[in-house]
Amino acid sequence: MPKRRHVHDSLHPVRKLLTRNITALRTPDTMAAENLRSLLKDPELLQSKAYVNGQWVDADDGETFTVTNPATGKTLVDVPNMPQSQVRKAIEHAKSTIKSWSAETAYKRQTLLLAWYSAIMANVDDLALILTKENGKPLAEAKTEITYGASYISWFAAEAVRAYGHTVPAVFPGTRNTVIKQPIGVCGMITPWNFPNAMITRKAAPALAAGCTIVIKAPAETPLSALAICALAERVGIPAGVVNVVTVAKGEREQACGLELTTNPLVSKISFTGSTPVGRLLMKQCSSTLKKMSMELGGNAAFIVFDDADLDLAIEGVITSKFRGAGQTCVCANRIFVHAKVYNEFASRLTDRVKAFKVGDPSEEGVTIGPLITEAGVAKVERHVNDAVEKGARILVGGSRPDAPEGSFFYSPTVLADVPRECAVASEETFGPLAALFKFEQEEDVVTRANDTEVGLAGYFFTKDISRVWRVAERLEVGMVAVNTGMISQACIPFGGVKQSGFGREGGRGGLDEYMVEKLVTIGGIA
Ligand code: SIN
Repeated sequence: MPKRRHVHDSLHPVRKLLTRNITALRTPDTMAAENLRSLLKDPELLQSKAYVNGQWVDADDGETFTVTNPATGKTLVDVPNMPQSQVRKAIEHAKSTIKSWSAETAYKRQTLLLAWYSAIMANVDDLALILTKENGKPLAEAKTEITYGASYISWFAAEAVRAYGHTVPAVFPGTRNTVIKQPIGVCGMITPWNFPNAMITRKAAPALAAGCTIVIKAPAETPLSALAICALAERVGIPAGVVNVVTVAKGEREQACGLELTTNPLVSKISFTGSTPVGRLLMKQCSSTLKKMSMELGGNAAFIVFDDADLDLAIEGVITSKFRGAGQTCVCANRIFVHAKVYNEFASRLTDRVKAFKVGDPSEEGVTIGPLITEAGVAKVERHVNDAVEKGARILVGGSRPDAPEGSFFYSPTVLADVPRECAVASEETFGPLAALFKFEQEEDVVTRANDTEVGLAGYFFTKDISRVWRVAERLEVGMVAVNTGMISQACIPFGGVKQSGFGREGGRGGLDEYMVEKLVTIGGIA
């Protein structure tokens, strides 16, 4: 990585001030711009305007905010910081388009979705580079995300033509009951920065397949991926007003945008992926107009390695689950429970693997761990590590910030052993590259500990005992259980959680229903 300097703890207050929206406080180095457009095969994919009713627009009052590269601190591009009134207009356009879009045949919508899928797949390299530059995940991982994101579009293109209704035998003579499915209406989508592509397609594809129109609030940290796939949606002929993307900076305008989407009576459904506290707020706001909601919120996944586990699989699993996106996924292993009999071997093998990671600029070949998204993200990992070490945990690898360019947000991938139960990492989601190893001896005890959290998104365990597979899978209080694998995410599964990880499922065979309502048509007087 060029221009490295060691960032000591004493510099943290300065780094805290280097937030991406406070232009006046940027140092000359972080003000430097990267010419991302020149690196793209198709420069048109780098959009610096929002997309409303088929038009690429600036903010009505001309306000902008800067998107920066978390690996370099450098500026990528400025995008519109839209006022609430403009979000309202986008909703109104989506509302006035829904009649024509929902009247299209499901086959027409399928054709357009498949064309969108193909356009995304034809531009994987550019889309991945844009994603890497704004989010910081390594290029190879960004490519995987683009393919994963596109798979939601092809899955729901196929589902579009399977929105079956049904008939119900009637109680009353001369009566017939038919249940049809209709699009729910205009959908607001509030999407996260950790999957700037896939969390948009996971929401947009079922909504469009169902016949809904959408207003997407692009993540403030990573709006460029949203705008790039929107440019492709426009290119393949998805009609104006069907897909709208608004961009807002963190702070006042982001809150105003969220408020508009959650309180405007023209919006029928909100789909949100993000933190549990924000989910609670959005739900409160949605109550004023009783919107349907789907919420995929925080996790605190337990990853359990029993003494009969295949350790090769368990090590692969923890690498995938823990370090994907530098630990910034909602399904990341957060608490790694290892049976006392295999604890030392597991810890030592994991440490060797983590030592072999290449940390650096994620757009460089071979880099496997990039930066975190913000200084706040780094500070949280640091707090969890320091807290655990103060309480007796041992650092096996990592445990500090590496040398890195000023204005970037790196934390070294870290393994901690002998983490005591009462540490912050046991109860809070770290959302960073920290593997915290806890020891256990009894199945009953580890299942109780795994369930001892208010959230319940994903859970992982490794064992060769088939009875235990069923016993533990059924007892874990989560929406998704992975046995002998660290990878859950696929378009064909119902993705979602229980407890305070939210409700609703994305993907899978029920995914389309999240965007449809059942309507009964009962007909009497049939002779
Ligand atoms: C998330 O972190 O919210 C989604 C992760 C995934 O789809 O794998």
